[in-house]
Amino acid sequence: MNVLVCGGAGYIGSNMTAMLAENGHKAYVYDNLSKGHIEAVVPEAEFIYGDLADYDKLVRVIRDKKIDAVMHFAAFIEVGESVKDPLGYYNNNFCNTHNLLRAMDFMGVNKFVFSSTAATYGMPDEVPIVETLPKEPINPYGESKWAVERMCHFQSQTGRLNYAALRYFNACGAGRNSQLGEDHKPESHLIPLIIQAALGQREDIKIFGTDYNTKDGTCVRDYIHIEDLCSAHLLALEKLSTESEIVFNLGNGNGYTVREVIETVKKVSGKDFKVTETDRRAGDPAVLTADSAKAQTQLGWKPKWTNLEDIVETAWKFHSARPNGYSG
Ligand code: UFG
Repeated sequence: MNVLVCGGAGYIGSNMTAMLAENGHKAYVYDNLSKGHIEAVVPEAEFIYGDLADYDKLVRVIRDKKIDAVMHFAAFIEVGESVKDPLGYYNNNFCNTHNLLRAMDFMGVNKFVFSSTAATYGMPDEVPIVETLPKEPINPYGESKWAVERMCHFQSQTGRLNYAALRYFNACGAGRNSQLGEDHKPESHLIPLIIQAALGQREDIKIFGTDYNTKDGTCVRDYIHIEDLCSAHLLALEKLSTESEIVFNLGNGNGYTVREVIETVKKVSGKDFKVTETDRRAGDPAVLTADSAKAQTQLGWKPKWTNLEDIVETAWKFHSARPNGYSG
């Protein structure tokens, strides 16, 4: 298929682009480089500089490149930032996705794979989380993603859209032989921050809260390797030839505490660094783990990276080879 990868210069989009190319698809990366990196776009793909707000350009690209399917990774992802700038988040995450869906609808392209998030569940009452749990986001980021899911749901009912909403847990690690990793500025994700401490780029790693009701008092998250995440997208894309609406959680099912992640980075890197215990971060649920049985059964998907040490090793290789990120 000819696949338009919106946000294909970002962390998840670039890994997806590489995997599409490796599996015989032609990937067209559409990105405004506001967050992404041109160096992350694999040479097999064609890069198109463009903004999702530009409806006319989207229509032109979909027509000229004979696009068959669209994958959308071009969202803002910072929970804290979304609380400070709800309008900005709704604008980029919702309005621009609406624009993209309009352009697809105008051109008669009906296959859409959407990056959703575990943040749609808010503070769930049960873990591991199954897809049917209530969607009660507690911040504008989660709400903006949930609003897109609802828009896709209603559009799919017209018979003009086949979509997959994939709710990610904690994507991490680096793909394509550890060449495509995380490079967010500013960085807020746990594993790259710990690696920065291991590389001596920050004075310590702060643990946000040590009084949670978990085995060591720190939050538990479900860390899923980027290649496992992307392989589920590929399977979902294939399903869209026959299915109009598919929704899956994507996680490993294994939860690790913040302390366990820190210890794993210390072991993999062979470095020691300062760990500081601080107050809880607002809005952090104690435990977020996925029940991915639905994706495993219905897509035939099986995560390959089940060991945290192996996952962290790929991130460590990426960051230690490029301590200042792509442009550094
Ligand atoms: N944490 C620390 N110290 C830090 C950074 C994070 O203790 O310096 C803790 C957090 O409190 C949390 C865990 O490490 O308990 C993971 O935090 P991340 O910021 O790496 O990830 P989140 O679980 O907060 O969020 C991630 C994505 C979101 C997505 C969410 C869905 O970043 O985009 O998963 O579960 F919505």
